[in-house]
Amino acid sequence: MPEKPWSGRFSEKTERIVEDFTSSIDIDKRLYAYDIDGSIAHCRTLVKGGIISEEDADVLVGGLKKIKNEIERGNFQFDHGLEDIHMHIEARLVEKVGKIAQKLHTARSRNDQVALDVRMYLRDEARGIIGSLVSLRQVILDMAKANIDVVLPGYTHLQRAQPVLLSHHLMAYYEMFSRDTERFEEGLNRINVMPLGSAALAGTTYPIDREYTAQLLEFPRVSANSIDAVSDRDFIVEFISAAGLCMVHLSRISEELIIWSSAEFGFIELPDSFATGSSIMPQKKNPDVPELVRGKTGRVFGDLVSILTMMKSLPLSYNRDMQEDKAALFNTVDVLTECIGIYIAMLPKVKIHKEAMLQATSKGFLNATDMADYLVIKGMPFRKAHDCVGNAVLYALSKNKELHELNLEELKSFSAIIEADIFDILSTDQMIARRKSIGGTATESVNAAIEAAKKRLEKEIQE
Ligand code: ARG
Repeated sequence: MPEKPWSGRFSEKTERIVEDFTSSIDIDKRLYAYDIDGSIAHCRTLVKGGIISEEDADVLVGGLKKIKNEIERGNFQFDHGLEDIHMHIEARLVEKVGKIAQKLHTARSRNDQVALDVRMYLRDEARGIIGSLVSLRQVILDMAKANIDVVLPGYTHLQRAQPVLLSHHLMAYYEMFSRDTERFEEGLNRINVMPLGSAALAGTTYPIDREYTAQLLEFPRVSANSIDAVSDRDFIVEFISAAGLCMVHLSRISEELIIWSSAEFGFIELPDSFATGSSIMPQKKNPDVPELVRGKTGRVFGDLVSILTMMKSLPLSYNRDMQEDKAALFNTVDVLTECIGIYIAMLPKVKIHKEAMLQATSKGFLNATDMADYLVIKGMPFRKAHDCVGNAVLYALSKNKELHELNLEELKSFSAIIEADIFDILSTDQMIARRKSIGGTATESVNAAIEAAKKRLEKEIQE
């Protein structure tokens, strides 16, 4: 075991339980590639500042590349005694290239190093998530297009309210995932800031060109304050918060798929390949996949609470508490990536029971509002019309009928202004077709929304 980098100041060896307790290597080894790329850029910056020679830098870079290779091939020894990925790589570099390796950590601290690594990691992950959200939106768009003729009850309070197109309902999710995409993109601007050169907290005495490091690592800007740079984890909070909201959306669509696939609704059937059976009840086909998406949402909320709590009372600047950020962040990335992937694969295979959906629109007085609107157009004030239709509903209930199943004479008993043209108004087709306002459920409005979304998505894919 190599000596600790701080051993000069210490007269006792670290207890094994302390090594285990303080070690983060099991978690942060995931950052190895970023740590190495960051170190390579740091070497080049040291050369540019005349702090190390070109030859030394070549040796260091060569060693670092070999280490990357070793880790990738699974030929790398991890040890709790070396705490974290930064110390592991540095210690291995000493083994490989000797004393020159000790020059690498000039003008740098693990505090700015870890901030750099996490930012590089997260910008890649955020871009990946944005890409998969684009695919998910594409899937939803295709589904909306393919089912433009499918009508189902729209619900409020989980009570049938008014008929809507299934495409309109699906496009509501399209909007949610579009906002999620925007949130991740906006977050990227604040992730994409280069902290190296802040050193422990106060900056460095060496003449390093931070803009040059940023350029090498493709960061559009450098951090403006060294104290903030080593202690800022806002970008992680923002990312997990955006992820939490995206999980809310996935959880809501999951809830709908679960309800819709029940015998009580019978609106959809989940693909066999995305469902599971029961170990005891042979007849069962369970919606475990959407249930697990719904269930895993809690983990991301937990990550958000955990990181907010971890940060809330920390004095400036770096504190070791902050090492705990990674478990939460990695878990969120994993859960979200997996859940979006599941939806991209599952949604196109969901079978829509068009007849059952339509059937459900014909019971439950979904046309009561349209009857009231009809009366208003014929001159009745809305409040009065509401009352009049309420009476008609009460009467229909007593006859075990729907409004459109009453005959003209019965309808006229609630208002003399009702004529035979009301039956057209009360039909599901007309209820859909007449809601032509922008953002409404009329087929032409939904088609327009799908077209607009398609254009937007194509533009995003090109950018
Ligand atoms: N493993 C540490 C972390 O993730 C790296 C920074 C350590 N800095 C320190 N001053 N002990 O936060």
